[in-house]
Amino acid sequence: MALIKKEVVDQIILQADIVEVVGDFVSLKKKGQNLWACCPFHHEKSPSFSVAPNKGIYKCFGCGKAGNAVQFIMDVEGTSYVEALKYLAKKYSIDIEEDQSPAAVQAQNERDSLYILSDFAKKYYVNALHKNDEGQSIGAPYFKQRGLSAATIQKFELGYSLDSWDDFTKAALEKGFLLKYLEETGLTIVKQEEGKQYDRFRGRVMFPIQNVSGRTIGFGARTLKTNDKKSPKYVNSPESPIYHKSDVLYGMFQAKQSIRQEDNCYLVEGYLDVLSLHQGGIENVVASSGTSLTENQIKLIGRYTKNITVLYDGDPAGIKASLRGIDLILEGGLNVNVVLFPDGDDPDSYIRKVGDTAFKAYLGEHSQDFISFKSELFAQEAKDNPVKKAEAIREMVVSIAKIPDAIKRSVFLKQCSIQFGIDEQVLISEYNKIHLTEQKNARSQPSQGNSYGNSPASYAPGSFEEMAAEAEAAAAAAAEAAMYEEEDQQEADQSNLLRTREREVIRWILNFADNQIEEGVTTSQFILGELEDVEFRTPIYARLQKLCLKKLEQGFLPTAAEMMQDEDQEIVKEVIDLVSEKYELSEGWAKHEIIVPRESDLIQYGSEREVLRLKWRNVQFLIDTERNKLREMTDFQELTSVMRKIKALQDLEKQITDLLGIVVSR
Ligand code: CTP
Ligand code: MN
Repeated sequence: MALIKKEVVDQIILQADIVEVVGDFVSLKKKGQNLWACCPFHHEKSPSFSVAPNKGIYKCFGCGKAGNAVQFIMDVEGTSYVEALKYLAKKYSIDIEEDQSPAAVQAQNERDSLYILSDFAKKYYVNALHKNDEGQSIGAPYFKQRGLSAATIQKFELGYSLDSWDDFTKAALEKGFLLKYLEETGLTIVKQEEGKQYDRFRGRVMFPIQNVSGRTIGFGARTLKTNDKKSPKYVNSPESPIYHKSDVLYGMFQAKQSIRQEDNCYLVEGYLDVLSLHQGGIENVVASSGTSLTENQIKLIGRYTKNITVLYDGDPAGIKASLRGIDLILEGGLNVNVVLFPDGDDPDSYIRKVGDTAFKAYLGEHSQDFISFKSELFAQEAKDNPVKKAEAIREMVVSIAKIPDAIKRSVFLKQCSIQFGIDEQVLISEYNKIHLTEQKNARSQPSQGNSYGNSPASYAPGSFEEMAAEAEAAAAAAAEAAMYEEEDQQEADQSNLLRTREREVIRWILNFADNQIEEGVTTSQFILGELEDVEFRTPIYARLQKLCLKKLEQGFLPTAAEMMQDEDQEIVKEVIDLVSEKYELSEGWAKHEIIVPRESDLIQYGSEREVLRLKWRNVQFLIDTERNKLREMTDFQELTSVMRKIKALQDLEKQITDLLGIVVSR
């Protein structure tokens, strides 16, 4: 994206009138020097949102949001700084000289033409509904029969397309619109070979589709013939340079303010669901318009709220659609609740059946978080069928695994364990399995599957992967990452950090030398095995590592007692130091309010973490070492080879930190 010149930025800020800018979103009332309105950023009944024209700023005394015109656009539209500047530049017709290449100018001109044409079409259909005899005798009664008020029809600029082959196309051509644009927007269908052209929308009620800024970009059109199997119920505009279906939600322009205020967005399937709910006073509602929900649509909602409530039909198709939606929403990092309607009803038919008040009450009573929703859904099937039950649990955990936020993940695992009456440990290990498989899959993607010929063998991703899989990473804590950060910040220099990690690892080995981590494997065996090809940098710990390995080879466990037999007094002294420090297993976890599970679990968990943490520090050490080499290097070939090594190490580091980050508390 081209940068906007400083002078232009200044000009935009100078010219943007805060009253005009804010006035496009809320209606301001003058009281004394300032103007007031109900805040667009939080829900309130009496105005505490003020605009001071002389200072060029807005401020809400209720929620504290404040700033200039640019900030207002950023807040209200959820845009970046640059996008907000562009918005204002457009409003005030300031030329920002972005990309002035002929191709870019042409593309922009073309898009502008498509917008203007779509706007013309919208007005044409609105006019046909209100001013044309056919519109009045056929279109208007249909809307009435569907219970839509004049205000709703006006607000959503609903229209009617005449039952004629080319009435619209003719009118548009007469107006001077090029056939090329008529075809590109899909408003006109051109049959080259037959030399014919005709209107796409004929004899249908029209729902203009707008983008977030309210520009018309396409149409949905419903047939009036309820029982005509030949013509499809809905005909929609095709994709065009201004209409990308997967980026658009029907009703967003009309809903966004309310979504922000309610801090929740209702998601429905159809045009009529949006319209009926709106009319019933529920304005924070948008529709995916029959297509399955997309990542970009979720991102769009995310600009205004982090909470989505999915309102779908209670029929099997609706349930299926909502399940798909749930996972995608979770993956997008948003919270999701679900309301199902009685089988046979969609939100539109239900609100018309029971009325606004009862409908709102229904939403309140039947809104479930996705765990309860899914578990209830599977409960019936799973009740007396252990296989089904296992499947259901897996289903839940798969959803939970999609949540990017570790704290939320752990909360949901806990909830899930309560709901199903299952040991949390079972869920955690199921989760870890899923997570590791996903990580493995991600790593074996071709794009990431580079083989770095020069990377040290022991650090090849392959061997790490094995390690990871073997470890089957016991649970871990989200807060724990923070805990380590804290600790690590206090320990300043690199070699000290490494020394600390090596010391900790040896301490685990000595303290839990004979503790069985799992059937037939002791903690010391596990840790030493994991770290077999990691070179310890601190001399004393390097010696201890070798010594422990030697003991294992000789058939002894490297317990403190065993190690203290050594003749080397330095070793003996260190061992005593290491085991005489009281080992408070739960300290760190308790401090961060993580519930400490069974001690044996904790030892396994802790051992795996210690291994990872040492590997992590070790990789950092290796990266620094390679980086230092770069300084004196002049030979190009050598340089590239070191750079490659660094890249491979960085990839490895990423894998380790990912593993350290996956952890789930119990
Ligand atoms: N849809 C579509 N094409 C179809 C059927 C449906 O594009 N052939 C989309 C429309 O956006 C529609 C939504 O899917 O609004 C939901 O479909 P449906 O529930 O069948 O329609 P409703 O909006 O409920 O319309 P009505 O109440 O008039 O049946
Ligand atoms: Mn319907």
